[in-house]
Order: sequence, then C-alpha cells, then structure tokens
Amino acid sequence: MCWIFAYNGKKNAIPLLVEGLRTLEYRGYDSAGIAAVNEKKEIFLEKATGKVSNLASKVQKNPHAKDTYQAGIAHTRWATHGKVTLENTHPHVSENERFYVVHNGIIENYMGIKNILEKKYHFYGDTDSEIIAKLIEDSFDGDLLSTVTTVCEKMVGAYAIVVMDKENPSTIIGAKLGSPMIVGEGDDGVFIASDINAISHVAKEFVSLEDGETVVITDGKKEIYSLGERIIKTSEVIDHNQEMVDKGNFDTFTEKEIYEIPEVIKNVCKWRIDFEKKEIINETLESLGDHEIKRIEIIASGSSYFAGQVGSYWLKTLAGIPTEVRISSEFLYDTFLPHKKTLYIFISQSGETADVRECLKMVKAKWCLTFGIVNVVGSTIARMCDLGLYSHAGVEVGVASTKNIIGQYGVLLLLALSLWIKRDLQIHQCKTIIEELWNLPDTFELQLQQANTYKEIAKKYAKYPSMFFLGRNILYPVAAEGSLKLKELSYIHSECYSTGELKHGPLALIDKNTPSFVLNLKGIMQEKTISNVREIQARNGKVIGIITSGEDKSLYDDMIEVPETSAIVSPFLPLVPIWIMSVEIAKTLWRDVDKPQNLAKSVTVE
Ligand code: G6P
Repeated sequence: MCWIFAYNGKKNAIPLLVEGLRTLEYRGYDSAGIAAVNEKKEIFLEKATGKVSNLASKVQKNPHAKDTYQAGIAHTRWATHGKVTLENTHPHVSENERFYVVHNGIIENYMGIKNILEKKYHFYGDTDSEIIAKLIEDSFDGDLLSTVTTVCEKMVGAYAIVVMDKENPSTIIGAKLGSPMIVGEGDDGVFIASDINAISHVAKEFVSLEDGETVVITDGKKEIYSLGERIIKTSEVIDHNQEMVDKGNFDTFTEKEIYEIPEVIKNVCKWRIDFEKKEIINETLESLGDHEIKRIEIIASGSSYFAGQVGSYWLKTLAGIPTEVRISSEFLYDTFLPHKKTLYIFISQSGETADVRECLKMVKAKWCLTFGIVNVVGSTIARMCDLGLYSHAGVEVGVASTKNIIGQYGVLLLLALSLWIKRDLQIHQCKTIIEELWNLPDTFELQLQQANTYKEIAKKYAKYPSMFFLGRNILYPVAAEGSLKLKELSYIHSECYSTGELKHGPLALIDKNTPSFVLNLKGIMQEKTISNVREIQARNGKVIGIITSGEDKSLYDDMIEVPETSAIVSPFLPLVPIWIMSVEIAKTLWRDVDKPQNLAKSVTVE
C-alpha cells in the first residue's frame, strides 16, 4: 500500500527520507518520490517509477542532495487511481508550486472536486491525491493549519496526508481519517510515518494520531490538534528493533521469516500457557468467561482469512460454538445483523487492512464485543478492538505472510481451548493438545532441516503453468493458504478446492500438465482423500502428497512426510514445506520473492 514518511528537524531531510522509504518499501513499490525544502525556500524534488532504489540513485546523482533541507515529505506508491507513471507519483504539487502533498488512502469524492477545480487548474496526472494539492491552493486562507482543516472537511474517503509549504519551510502538517499516521520524536527531530517500523530506528517515542487529529511540526517540535483545539497526547516509548532491516544470511526476508517460525510459536505460548501444569493462564482469555458467547464471526482478508477458517474448525469442534468466517470486503456490504451474544473476531497481520478496519468500525458502532488477533503492536485494529491477543510474530517484511500465520493459528487454538475448558471442562484432552503445542517448535526445526528435500521437489514443478491445492475438512483452508502463497510468490495460476469437490467441475482441468498438491494427513478423511487422488491419477494428473510419516507412499508422484499429530494440531504441519516449496519455485522463475508484482503488505484502502 502507499506509505508516507516525513521529517522536520535539525538534520538534512534527504538521506533520512530515502532511508525511511527503503525501510518500509514493502508497503508499496510501484513508484516513489520525495520533496524537501530549505530555509531559502528552495525545493528539492525527485520521483522515480519502480523500486525505491531507482529513486535513491536519482537522488544520489542530484548535486543538491547534500545541501541541508530541514523539512521533507516522502511516499512510496501502490497504484490505485492511474497508471504507474512519474506524473502520478507523489509528492503532488499545487499549480502555484507552493504546496507539496503526500497521501495514503482514497479520496472517494475526488471526481466531483476535480470537475470543479479543473475549471481553474491544470491537472497533470490521474490520481485522486493530486486534487489535495490543488484544493489547498484553492482554499488557502493565509494559515496552513486552518486551510488543511477546511480541505479535510471537503474530502470523503480515507486519508493520511502530509503537507509542506514552500513559503513556510519550518512547518509541515499531517492530518488523517481512516489511514494510519504515527508521529515519532527522536534526538534529531520529528517524524511522521504510516507505520511505527519506519521510525523505530530514528525515534525514541511516538503517538498514534486518531481520526480527525492534525499534527503541526515546526522546527522539530510537534503540536497536536483535534477539532481545532490543541490537545496533549501521552507518548509511548518505542521498542527499538533492527531485525526487519537485516536479512541475515538469507537471500530474502520471506525465507528468514519462515526460519523464525519455531520462535513464533514459542512467543505465542509464552506467558499464555503454563506448560508444566499444562494450563492456559491468560487474563484476556479468562475475561471472555464474563461474556455469554453463543456465536462467533471471524472477519479477515487474504492469508488472515484462511487462518480464520482454520480457527473456525477449532472453535466449532472444541468449544462447540457456531462460527462463521467472513471476507471483510464482503461482510462490510452485506446486511449486518448485530447480535449481542456474538463475539466478533478481527484477524489482521498489519492491523491496518482497510476492509477489516471498516468492518470493525461497523460492528463497534452497534456496541458488539470485538476481539483482535493482530501482529503489529499499536496498529489501528489492535487499538480499536475491545479485547485481543497479539500473534507475536515480530516484524514481517515479506509481502506474502508466513510466520505471522503460525502466530494467528496459535492464538486461535488457545482461544478455542480456553472456551472449550469453560464449557465442557475437557481438561485431560486439553492437556494433550497443550503437550503437542509444546512439541511444535522442535517439529518445525526438523522440518526446516528438511528444506533441501522440499526444494528439490519444488524445482520439478516450476515449469507447470497451473496447479491445484486440495485438502478436506480442517486441511482445506490450509490448502487454500498454500495455493495463495504459490500464486502470490511465483505468479503460477493456482486454485484450491476441497478434495471432495474436485469431481464436481474442476476435474475437467486435470491432465498431465496440471499437478495437484494434496494434503492427506492421518485422522482427516484419509481414505476418501485417497480415492480422490486416484481420480486425479486416472486423468494423468501428477500428485504431490503431503502425508503423515509412515503412511503408504506408493500412491504419489512426489511426497512430503510430516510427523503424526492429532487432527486438531495437524493444520500447523503442512505450511513450512509448502512455503519453502513456493519460495523455491518463485526463485527458480526469478520472481521478486519479498515484493511480488502488484501487491502490497498492508492494504490501507478499500
Ligand atoms: C494483503 C497482503 C496479504 C495479506 C492481506 C491481509 O493483501 O498482500 O498477504 O494476507 O493483505 O493482510 P492483514 O495485514 O490484514 O493480515
């Protein structure tokens, strides 16, 4: 998604802006640009299509880059309105070349505003964002803060904007509605960013702006306003970490993140499970006992949606609570029937996905109980939910989610176990599952040691144009996650079906050029799945079986063995091999594993 970054302070803004863009390029990487201003009211402006490295080399060649510019704004773009061109790249500028703007979000009424402004101003691009710069010029009343407030009142949609005024180089102003905005303070000045990770290396403390708030930064000092009144917000200390800027010995962040999975599952359980007593000891989960929960609705997108589907099996099977999983962009426009005894669970790695955020707003407006499963600490969704648990996966840079999904599975299983105990007191069975969770880090380590075996198999399948992922019951959403990952990373067409559904249509596509990954683990309709495998093979389709160790291997063209677990814990096991294979196929095809084409890590527009 688009990402904004801005600086006002003692140091030269240019290198800070370029570095800031690099740090969080994974949010959007169609084009990038920076604008900065100095005391002499001179502007430095550079834009480039493609990756931030293209912008960085343009900046490096610019002889003015080493001059001192005390304020600047920067942006990486994930195209929504208009093609990937220099004209559509931010920062956008007013016609009088006085006001410079970066914007994250979508201005829904931009066409109406543009139609009016077009009578007075020339528009050089197609973006909704360009109208903001023109609107500021048109509405300017001599005071930038009051002008920005007026402009915000005219805009409908979601936005986080930062405005720079050439005639007043000591000040920048940020405003937001919907889209995230963090203001961080460090020794060298004040920073504005879409994400705390962008400033964690330069700032010591931060505040998150709420909708309708505005920040004015002058000479490295910030003032925050709400409804025209100055307000004081308490800053939070930044937990400094450098892990995200460092790939270690790995070629890609995605691979590094897959290798962090054993740690993730440990972190999810830490302080939440007493492994000696085999008991759940979490206060948040405990507090759910105060509520009468008759139904659960899970709302999410992408990989988080498929994690939610796995969770729904656990919540139904263990806790016996009817659970529905909804794609956020559909839930938002469906008829909403609020139910006081329903727990609404929102799952999001970034905690900023606009579709999910807007559903959360809708549910909260009806005073229903909300629970967040979020990875990014302090993100909008995490802050908005009544209750929640972090998935504790650490910073995830690879655009395609991996380690975070293990964290989400972990939280969902803990939630199901805790609700199960409250209802049925199945303490003994619960202790058995907790024991299996205890063993998971070692199981993942063993799988990671098998990486070369998975990679060898993967290489054989990189040449196929299309693939199927098949699974049944609780393994169906795991297969769906596998299919999503393969298409995201390799751009190979891939579809997921419930194995039993294949014969009702998709079987027409099976031939020798369409291999299928089949998830067939012990205890989950194994015999029926074997019959389905035979149906594929009767049509010359190749089958890569992901099977329980010790089971009959003769059926499959290739196979990955995973250790035996209970059916409940089984969804954890196929992911590491599938992700390693997907990355390997992507690398064989020379794809950009960390930044797949057309995608963005955090989609902050609907
Ligand atoms: C984007 C990413 C996906 C991710 C989805 C949901 O589309 O490319 O990998 O699963 O957003 O993101 P969230 O942060 O809400 O989990």
